[in-house]
Parts: sequence; C-alpha cells; structure tokens
Amino acid sequence: MLELFPDTAEIRDGVLWVGGVSTVDLVGEHGTPLVVYCEETIRAAARSWRSGAPDATIVYGTKAFPNAAIMRLLWEEGVGADVSTLGEMQYAKAAGIPPATWIVHGNNKSDEELRFAAEHDAWLVVMDEPGEVERCVEAGVKRVLLRITPGVEADTHEKIMTGHLGSKFGVPLEDAAEVVERARAAGLEMAGLHVHLGSQLADDSAVHAALDGLAAFTSSLSWAPAVIDAGGGLAIRYAPDDPAVPTPEEYARAVATGVAARWPDAQVIFEPGRSLVGRAALTLYTVGVVKRSGPTTWVAVDGGMSDNPRPALYGARYSALVANRAGDAPTATVAVCGKHCESGDVLIERVELARPERGDLLAVPATGAYALSMASNYNALPRPAALLVGDTGTRVIRQREPNIG
Ligand code: LLP
Repeated sequence: MLELFPDTAEIRDGVLWVGGVSTVDLVGEHGTPLVVYCEETIRAAARSWRSGAPDATIVYGTKAFPNAAIMRLLWEEGVGADVSTLGEMQYAKAAGIPPATWIVHGNNKSDEELRFAAEHDAWLVVMDEPGEVERCVEAGVKRVLLRITPGVEADTHEKIMTGHLGSKFGVPLEDAAEVVERARAAGLEMAGLHVHLGSQLADDSAVHAALDGLAAFTSSLSWAPAVIDAGGGLAIRYAPDDPAVPTPEEYARAVATGVAARWPDAQVIFEPGRSLVGRAALTLYTVGVVKRSGPTTWVAVDGGMSDNPRPALYGARYSALVANRAGDAPTATVAVCGKHCESGDVLIERVELARPERGDLLAVPATGAYALSMASNYNALPRPAALLVGDTGTRVIRQREPNIG
C-alpha cells in the first residue's frame, strides 16, 4: 500500500508521514481537504524519465497540474513545458520555463494563443488541423510539428484515448502529406511529427504501432523529420491490485530506441504529465458520517467529486489509508463517498480500512495528476489547498479558496 504513496511516505508511531512531516500536523495547520505534494518524488520521476532517454527532450504535460512552484522544480530537473492554452503558457512563463522549451498544443487554438506562442518564440507549435498552416503563418509562428491521428486504439478508458480514427485530435495520415507540403510552401519550418495516443497507458505497444505508421509516412515522402514527439501517456498505479507499469526510465528507453531505429537523427520529445506528478501527491480528508445502508458501509469525507472528479468521469479506482492510525490492520470493507448532492459522488467503491470513525483522517494516494487540475466548485465547495513538502520545509503552493458568498 505505501508504494502507491510518495517515495518519502512512512509510518511513524502509527501516523502517516510524508516528506519528513506528519500528515496529522499538516492537517492541524492547513485543514482538509488538503493535497500534499512531495518534492523528492517529483524530482525522482523527472530523473527517471531523463535517465531512460538522456538525449530526449522531456516536457511536462502542464494540464496534469498547472502550478508554478512544481513547474519551477521540474525545470530545475531539465523538464520543459507542454502547454495547451493561454493559461498554461502563462503558468510556464511564471515558472520561468524558457519558451525555447515550450510545445504548444490545442485542438482549437485561438488567434490570441497562436500570437502569444509566436511573440514568445515558443519552440514548437503542434498543428492539429489543416487550416492551422495559414493561421500559424498569420500569427508569426516559425516552427511547427503536425499532430498525426495514426488510427491506433490504445488500451485505456475511451474518454482518454486520442489516437483512434475519428478522434477530435490531429490529422489522419491520409491527409498529412498535403499539410506538410503546404506548411513548407508557406515558409514554416516543418520540424516533424507528433503523436499522443491517450493517457494511463500501461505499456508502450500503442506507441510502437503508431511509430510504424509514421515511419511508412515519412519514407513515402523521403522525409527525415528533425523531431519526433511521442507524446505522454504513461500510466501510474492507483490501487494495490493495479497491474505493474513500466518505470519512466524503462518506457523512455524503449520508445526512444524505437524512434532511433526508424529515424536515426531525430530529436525525441516526451510529454509526460501523470507519470511526473501523479504519485507525488496524496489527498487528506476528514471523515464525517459513517453509516450502514443495506450491504454498504459508507464513509463520507469532506470533499469528493469536486476535488477529484476522476472516479465519476472515468470510473477511476482509488485506494486509501486511515492516516492517523496508519499502522492499524484493516478491519472493515467500506465505500468512500464525498459530501456532494448526488449518488455519483463516490471516491472509492470498495476498500479495506481500519474501521474509520468521525474525525479520522483519510489519505488517498496518487492524486497528483488530473484531480485538483480538474476540480470544481460543485455545491459551492471551495477548492482545496496544495502543499509542497521537501527538504526546504513545507510551502503552500496553492491557496485554499475562500468560502463563496
Ligand atoms: N501530451 C498531450 C498532447 C496530451 O493531450 C496529454 C494529456 C499529455 C501529453 C499528458 O499525458 P499523460 O502523460 O498525463 O498521460 N483527465 C484525464 C487525462 C487526460 C489527458 C489529457 N492529455 C484523466 O484524469 O485520466
């Protein structure tokens, strides 16, 4: 169970600690719900990516959790930014990540976004549709990639798969030659191709299938692209019975080797989001109501689908630990729900816990990616604070929202 938590997680005197601090103390000072990020785990993930593919460029999929403190830390580890909106570009800018490392995405970029990218001389704009050639020229963009929809169905939830034919993202291979030629004719530097097949992918098989399609395409044009961007997508584990997934190092090495075998001189880009920050954070909740309803024992916490919509959106499975009694053996099988006014507000359908009681703290691991970044104010709940714990102490990296009204 502890392996799902950040690297620094440990149990001291029956209490869950992270980054050298007690979760009970953190909650005493900052309240709940509370998202706690561990600096060491983020740095280790970045290093794992870099050691698997030392010559590749790694950029952070900002959407996983846009946050200047975390992005600054990632940049210290040599990780640039994958940005897909004006807001994400502003986060990258605020974090001091040089635009020379920005990869600018978006299936529906506004003129303002294209101009912002051009004015900052972002490294690469990833064209997502044929009409973007002229819009990029108009905005003053210089270097581009073309996002390809390779027709590969990655093994993941249908809502987060992106490389299948009919996807809203990218250009199918059959239409790509025309776009490449037109971009060149228009004076854009056509640096290469991009694929991103989906998120929470447990292996690299889909990427290799996509690279095969791209290789057939580039050889048909006798084109040796300078850049191949293999996207993000690497999965993390959320629950003890989740299957093993490759480490970033293993995944990066396998994919970079696959790219080099097809295009020996190409610069490889990876855009990890979840695998950089997902396991680095946990969410702490306070237990309120505990009650039986037919066969189910419900444990209600003081957040829910507003701070983590993933179970409701994707059927995502999570696990939990009673943080203030972390050494106690599980004695009850319960379901964990939030405090929102709908039945879909279930964070964990089934988990074994040391029988929780009102006032206990529940720690849910692996909430660093796509939880707070997709949080809402449903039922007028303020979104939680986020802390960063590490050698230099504990910092609030996102303020708890004030109560509304
Ligand atoms: N590159 C592109 C072009 C992307 O669209 C994404 C994620 C990434 C990189 C980073 O992917 P990652 O390494 O994090 O898998 N909200 C969903 C995930 C949506 C992913 C969106 N795109 C979830 O909670 O599972």
